[in-house]
Amino acid sequence: MRYVYLATFFLAALTVSVLGFRGSLSTKPPLELKPDMVHQAKYKPQSDSPFFADGRTDRPLPAGVVPYGRTTASPDAAFLAADDELYLGKTASGEWLGGFPKAVKVDARLMARGQERFTIYCAPCHGALGDGNGITKQYGMGATPTYHDDRLRKMAEGEIYNTIANGKGAMLSQADKVTPEDRWAVIAYIRALQRAQNGTAADVPPSHKAELGLK
Ligand code: HEC
Repeated sequence: MRYVYLATFFLAALTVSVLGFRGSLSTKPPLELKPDMVHQAKYKPQSDSPFFADGRTDRPLPAGVVPYGRTTASPDAAFLAADDELYLGKTASGEWLGGFPKAVKVDARLMARGQERFTIYCAPCHGALGDGNGITKQYGMGATPTYHDDRLRKMAEGEIYNTIANGKGAMLSQADKVTPEDRWAVIAYIRALQRAQNGTAADVPPSHKAELGLK
């Protein structure tokens, strides 16, 4: 029995000595059993440096690098502008891009890809026709808008790109599911859906007008 008391006592003492003093303050340097990378030889952003002639740790960009967030203030502005179109949906002057980036070829292959991606990632909420009547509506997601109003018909492609990439209002970002290239494919398909729901007699090729009883 004595050993049981003793063992309990030592266990309690061990627990208190390991866990009990966490958070207590001390002026002594901490004991670091495993310092990993706690102490690093590094410069903090925007601090002084006695090493460089201009006294700054921040260095100017070497020619040709792509700065984080992509600004057009780089020597290679044309390259970065093309990058902004493709990855941000913006023109060099920061407006939403109307139409498609030069790097994206709108053809039947892109459309087919867009239809496939749209059906997987957007149709559950936006509906196969883009009218906002996806399956999620039956489960209470009533806020999904239709693409078939003038505001969204006229919206720049770049702004739609931004909605897919970053989300908007009640819609979360789809960036982890739809790659930048696929976003443009989806937008091409949305444009097709919009045209399909908003056609006029003028859109019917002359050779098919008779079939529809049009003159
Ligand atoms: C989980 C449901 C859901 C999914 C998935 C979804 N959306 Fe949305 N989407 C919404 C909702 C809700 C709104 C309304 C957001 C708001 O205005 O608050 C919206 C709004 C939009 C708008 C209009 C934004 C505006 O400017 O008013 C566009 C364009 C759009 N979605 C495109 C897409 C595309 C493309 C996809 C697929 C890549 C997609 N959405 C996937 C729910 C969804």
